[in-house]
Amino acid sequence: MAEKKSFRDAKKAKQDEFYTQLVDIENELKHYREHFRGKTVLCNCDDPRVSNFFHYFSYNFEQLGLKKLITTCYKNQERDLFSQHDSERAIWLEYTGDHNGNRIPDPEEIGINYFKGDGDFRSQECIELLKQADIVVTNPPFSLFREYVAQLMEYNKKFLILGNQNAITYKEIFPLIKDDRIWLGSTLSFAKFKVPNYYQERSSRFWIDEDGQKWRSFGNICWFTNLDVAKRHENLILYKKYSSEKYPHYNNYDAINVDKTTDIPIDYDGVMGVPITFLDKYNPAQFEIVKFRKGDDDKDLSINGKCPYFRILIRRRHRPIPYSVDEEEAMPMAAAS
Ligand SMILES: C[S@@+](CC[C@H](N)C(=O)[O-])C[C@H]1O[C@@H](n2cnc3c(N)ncnc32)[C@H](O)[C@@H]1O
Repeated sequence: MAEKKSFRDAKKAKQDEFYTQLVDIENELKHYREHFRGKTVLCNCDDPRVSNFFHYFSYNFEQLGLKKLITTCYKNQERDLFSQHDSERAIWLEYTGDHNGNRIPDPEEIGINYFKGDGDFRSQECIELLKQADIVVTNPPFSLFREYVAQLMEYNKKFLILGNQNAITYKEIFPLIKDDRIWLGSTLSFAKFKVPNYYQERSSRFWIDEDGQKWRSFGNICWFTNLDVAKRHENLILYKKYSSEKYPHYNNYDAINVDKTTDIPIDYDGVMGVPITFLDKYNPAQFEIVKFRKGDDDKDLSINGKCPYFRILIRRRHRPIPYSVDEEEAMPMAAAS
């Protein structure tokens, strides 16, 4: 039994081993520059030898006006990846900016520290670093996503992290979205990620390029954050008119079904069931989230016995909510009160 579990854990750990491209980090991070001035950033699932998060923040340290960058490295399951390293122990790095004026993070400017343990983000050593951080930015292990987010919430941290779009549907994550404590970032993509040499998969989502580099992609990948971002204040422009033929009513909830976010009718004031991709366009001043997925009978929303794929029940707000101008106060004022 224990053997089976450790095999399963090792398999999961291997599946979690993929690396974010710099371009994906740049495309998202450019929307949050004002949040980083004077802040300590923690990348806590990042081997600095492969992490483009470390690369991005160390090279943009002065431009962003950062105070400190801390990067922690989890002891890898695969010895191969560490073969050039003279220690198997997990490390953490600390960078406080360019001191010799060449605008490059030189090795002598980066403090290398050794963990007693394996660098697990849940370990006390890592939690002490988390406490120092103002903003956590990384692509965490997808298999531990729930625990990872729970920890960020527990320590009341600002964050910007990558995750699978399916995480929206997790029972631990959706309530945070509904309560406006987490939202989606700016970019939504079918991002591709580098994977280590040992990686093997029979799937169209795994390939090897002409240089021998292995890659994998996922379905939709998105950013989850609690940093305010301009996109969240943009109204979704609507064009469609409601008709009872085009928008069937659910049998087990007083709401209509809308198959595409762009089809949300402009003139319907009741509750509407929309696909989870709606969250990419969600402006909490324009719509409120009422409920997720289930009808009054606590079964999946259904129309004549058929259940459309997960629906979020939303309702238009009649009076837009004013936003607080305080940068720290990212929630709409009415929702916060
Ligand atoms: C999806 S990968 C992303 C790596 C890197 N953040 C990036 O974006 O390139 C997740 C990383 O989390 C690390 N990891 C797995 N379990 C961990 C844990 N319990 N604590 C800290 N890191 C962990 C893995 O080794 C893996 O490198």
